[in-house]
Amino acid sequence: MRHFLTLKDFTKEEILEIIALGLKIKKDFKAGIYNKELEMQTLAMIFEKSSTRTRVSFETGMFQLGGHALFLSNRDIHLGRGEPVKDTARVISSMCDMVMIRTYEHSMLEEFAAYSKVPVINGLTDAYHPVQLLADYMTMIEFGVAENAVVAYVGDGNNMTNSWLMLAAKLGFELRIATPKGYEVESKVLRDALDIAKKSGAVIKVMNDPKEAVRGASVVTTDTWASMGQEDEKEQRIQDFKGYMVDGLMMCLAQKGAKFLHCLPAYRGQEVSEELLEDNADIVFAEAENRLHAQKGLMVWLDKQR
Ligand code: CP
Ligand code: NVA
Repeated sequence: MRHFLTLKDFTKEEILEIIALGLKIKKDFKAGIYNKELEMQTLAMIFEKSSTRTRVSFETGMFQLGGHALFLSNRDIHLGRGEPVKDTARVISSMCDMVMIRTYEHSMLEEFAAYSKVPVINGLTDAYHPVQLLADYMTMIEFGVAENAVVAYVGDGNNMTNSWLMLAAKLGFELRIATPKGYEVESKVLRDALDIAKKSGAVIKVMNDPKEAVRGASVVTTDTWASMGQEDEKEQRIQDFKGYMVDGLMMCLAQKGAKFLHCLPAYRGQEVSEELLEDNADIVFAEAENRLHAQKGLMVWLDKQR
């Protein structure tokens, strides 16, 4: 049995296999061929943070695969009142077939997985958001920018940056990360990624100048400057991230035909300009829809590993 906690635990071949499976299920679904491989299965979804895409995509995806999804917010279950993680894991995994968790501390997810009898999926922690990267890479394949990709990430060194680091390191593409001083990626994650990159041939560069990162890139991406849990820092961050907004002018430095990605939700006028986001609405909302398809691939793949 496998869990899906970070991309670090997966090989390049496995990551590509999951995405390919998602693409196949997507193609079939659009043609009216319904894969009901998870019939009679239940996915428990524990949310300790807000969500639009993650909740809708997992719940809909499980339904489309013939199963059922349970939405469990920490306001509704005893976990939110102090029932130990390990007890919650033992109870839920005795009745459900898979568990998705969105939480703060990555260690909570690891503890849950250690006591779970069924696969656990990371639906976002403070450290990583790996299911988002499955959808992002699927979108890069569909929009023809996966080959020889040079990805520039401009903004906060956060769970998305860490996940891009792992994806680049595993798949072997070039990733440049530009963050303001004081908002760099965690050194431990960077060291791990650089270590993995030695084998895959990935080129990973971290810097503070967004223009240097974007120059010649084939994909440019960003994320909110204040992640969930950092609401109190929002005003300070808006000051500290001046000059880091991805807009049309910045995109001019990228390769001709370069694509823009955003995991959403987007804060227009902060990490991305209104105009750039609207100009790239086709790819950005395809990326959001691909959450559904990529995660269907993931759930079917995890089910096959038991
Ligand atoms: N991108 C993403 O995970 O969106 P939600 O927070 O809406 O789930
Ligand atoms: N970095 C963001 C991602 C949201 C999908 C957050 O953690 O809030």
